Amino acid sequence: MRFLMTDPRHFNVSYQINPWMEPAAWTAEAAEAASQGSRALRDAIAATGAVVETVPAVEGLPDLVFPANAAIVLDGKVLVARFLCAERQGEEAVFRAAFEGLRARGIVKEVVELPQGVLQEGAGDAIWDIDRGFFWVGYGQRSTQSSIAVIESTFGQATVALELASPRFYHLDTCFCPLSGGKVLYYPPAFTPEALAAIRARVMPQDRIEATDEEAGAFCVNAVNIGRTIIMAKAPESLRLKLADHGYTLREVDLAPFILSGGGAYCMTLRLDRTAQAQAGLRAAE
Ligand code: ARG
Repeated sequence: MRFLMTDPRHFNVSYQINPWMEPAAWTAEAAEAASQGSRALRDAIAATGAVVETVPAVEGLPDLVFPANAAIVLDGKVLVARFLCAERQGEEAVFRAAFEGLRARGIVKEVVELPQGVLQEGAGDAIWDIDRGFFWVGYGQRSTQSSIAVIESTFGQATVALELASPRFYHLDTCFCPLSGGKVLYYPPAFTPEALAAIRARVMPQDRIEATDEEAGAFCVNAVNIGRTIIMAKAPESLRLKLADHGYTLREVDLAPFILSGGGAYCMTLRLDRTAQAQAGLRAAE
């Protein structure tokens, strides 16, 4: 397993591009806590045996700490993101260079570009479902509907499109998290009625784990799942019990400074080694 993270040195909340961000609430203590939180997340991921690659920080690009938005990666192919907000567009070239570096080292195979006019914010809006073998694709807030066909043709994989209904849950990864074994943790109010129907048509009732307002607001749906372990921001007791009932163990990390930017554990990482085929094999073994 291999993940990408970013050095949090230049992370802060200095502009507002989602309802969680309040530049006035940012403090020196938050900056200090951010470096500890990022380290704790890195340690939690490394403790599962995964390797973590690091993108260096760039001053003036605070949201570079969210590499889930950098690209979609499957089978060694990297589809580089294009951001809606001007504040984040400078990240595209930085991440592209980072992926070229990974390609030179043989860690990924190919770096490809989105067609002009298509906006797509990476794995934040395109989540590979290991058990079902397709991408769940979020659109309507940051990524455009036109990204869906591009994802299908780039990776040669099916997608299920989910329109996002709320500016507070502006990336799919803030409200939707497929878990090993086919269960799905999700926050229903973030979706349009059609999107909810699409989820419920594919995920059996016993596999649906619904997050409450409090659980989703604590950015706990934005989680990194490795086997039966789920790494996430500090969770309300209700969620800890719910996930234990379903057979998962939580590994909680204090990510409060990142929540001030509208992000949690999943979006601070990008999985680099997912393969459609190997995952199918793993599925059969389970
Ligand atoms: N401040 C960032 C933004 O609004 C947070 C991104 C969080 N990423 C995510 N995939 N949920 O773009």
